[in-house]
Amino acid sequence: IMKRCLSTSNALNVIKNVTIIGGGLMGSGIAQVTAQSGQNVTIVEVNDGAIKTAEKRISDSLVRVGKKLYKDNPQEAEKFVQGTKSKVRGVTDVGEGVKNADLVIEAIVENIDVKHKLFKQIDTLAPPSALLASNTSSLSIRDIASVTNRKDKFGGLHFFNPVPVMKLLEVVTTPELSEESYKSFMEWGKSVGKVCVTCKDTPGFVVNRLLVPYMAEALRMYERGDASAKDIDIAMKLGAGYPMGPIELVDYVGLDTTLFIIEGWHKKFPDNPLFVPPESLKKLVAEKKFGVKSGEGYYKYDKK
Ligand code: 3HC
Repeated sequence: IMKRCLSTSNALNVIKNVTIIGGGLMGSGIAQVTAQSGQNVTIVEVNDGAIKTAEKRISDSLVRVGKKLYKDNPQEAEKFVQGTKSKVRGVTDVGEGVKNADLVIEAIVENIDVKHKLFKQIDTLAPPSALLASNTSSLSIRDIASVTNRKDKFGGLHFFNPVPVMKLLEVVTTPELSEESYKSFMEWGKSVGKVCVTCKDTPGFVVNRLLVPYMAEALRMYERGDASAKDIDIAMKLGAGYPMGPIELVDYVGLDTTLFIIEGWHKKFPDNPLFVPPESLKKLVAEKKFGVKSGEGYYKYDKK
């Protein structure tokens, strides 16, 4: 019997309880799709206000998804919204949040020191079998994992904004990640409805490595006055089939986030001209114009 137990515990990790650290734009989206797939979700945030904001964002997005799934049946849609919401709880204590976790996903600020401090804590407080992942878009997974004693269970799970809509999940591997943990990450990604691609722990992984230089090139084009921001966006939507133009996309992703990513790469790779931060981006961020979320970026938005 002992042997059988041992061998089952070696099988792919069954993931039922997922803890998301950080309930911001990405964290709440990840929480939502996880809850939609029937898993139990715990969001860890710094205070009750932040939990409320995350819950509101999830609720609003679930209403949109519910409307789409149950077009002619508002009752079923409402049941879906309430049922999914009941799968999500918010806590402010990391220990409480991770103690029963099968998988912990971090989606907090892009600051390596803060992430290190957090993962040291998680490593001691989460069950030894729990898988750990970061949703970082610009830092090295291996570097983040370096402070833990379970590098074989640590990978990148990189989602895209808006998480409930974007189908892709990048599963980022490191040389230390075990085959078993890698397979569990891929299975889990499928279980929350995403199409998974595998990539190595290189700057920007696949999508951002291509998308961020493209957005920066569009900003340089705008700065030179080769075309207006509006015309650059129209051109890429109608001429290349992108759902948003590159400058609209900078506003949507956030000017601060975009600048943070490109500045980080520029410091690491100063000779790569694709990674030079565009002047207009630096200027707007200094003016606290962060895009859609702050009401103004390259364009102006109505504040909700
Ligand atoms: N929650 C739930 N549903 C949502 C939603 C949300 N937050 N946002 C949009 N939707 C749904 C809408 O309900 C709508 O559904 P319907 O087709 O059944 O009516 C559908 O998505 C389309 O939305 P809209 O009609 O409002 O607007 P669009 O057609 O312009 O689509 C978009 C919006 C999906 C955001 C689309 O413009 C798009 O795909 N843009 C590009 C996004 C992108 O490139 N994201 C990646 C950014 S990079 C990144 O995230 C990485 C990070 O590390 C920086």
